[in-house]
Amino acid sequence: MKKNKSLIVANWKQNGDLKSLTKLVNNFIKLYKKVKPRCDVLLLPPTLYLNLILSRLRYYRISLRKISLGVQNISPFLNGAYTGEQSVDMIKDYKCSFSLIGHSERRHILLEDEKMIASKVKLSLQANLNTILCVGETLKEYNQKLTKKVISRQLRSALSKNTHLFKSDHSKVIIAYEPVWAIGTGKAAISEDITEVHSYIRQVLCKMLGSKSNSIRILYGGSVNDVNAKSILNLPDVDGALVGGASLNSKKFIDICSSI
Ligand code: PGA
Repeated sequence: MKKNKSLIVANWKQNGDLKSLTKLVNNFIKLYKKVKPRCDVLLLPPTLYLNLILSRLRYYRISLRKISLGVQNISPFLNGAYTGEQSVDMIKDYKCSFSLIGHSERRHILLEDEKMIASKVKLSLQANLNTILCVGETLKEYNQKLTKKVISRQLRSALSKNTHLFKSDHSKVIIAYEPVWAIGTGKAAISEDITEVHSYIRQVLCKMLGSKSNSIRILYGGSVNDVNAKSILNLPDVDGALVGGASLNSKKFIDICSSI
């Protein structure tokens, strides 16, 4: 099967400040203009700095189709009295076209349950955002050989009630496979495991949604860096990467983007 166009995502998490993120985005854009990577690139800055990143992209005349903007999280509610939350409409004011939902740090540290994740997926798709759903097993689940069971449950609980929202365009949904034990540890999953899990995700999606689901991109995340990116991105059914730590270094991140 022909691969989907690769998407490389920078997840900056809760890192940086006005000064350092301005420097990071300026440096990255300059490198991007030189290298012109073939993949789609998505930046997920801390929400507070969306306007800053948007203004830098505009200053350098970068099309938002080339480097897109998105958020690391959305409110599970449309609007109203929800202290501290940002609605899908608010983030769309800053030209965000992507949301990231169900990241393991939100599942395991901020204790988001599957019901909440499904609500966020619903709102994100209703708002016509490209929706990246993160799935992945913990180390304990990996050792107990529960990876497939966990992933199937996470996919079904987040997507099964929302399929009518992307039936006309399956590419609005993107899956990121991120083994929890590989995130931020410097220990990426081995190629055999990535291949097996991505192929399994493809099968589950096909069972749920039919062959049109082949246009759903499946990204790998967890300690992707400038050294291992090429071999990971070349694996079958790997349509891109979700990059944390290494995306905070403009040179490393552009090297990852250009390894496709
Ligand atoms: P990492 O993070 O690249 O630092 O492992 C990936 C992620 O959490 O999305």
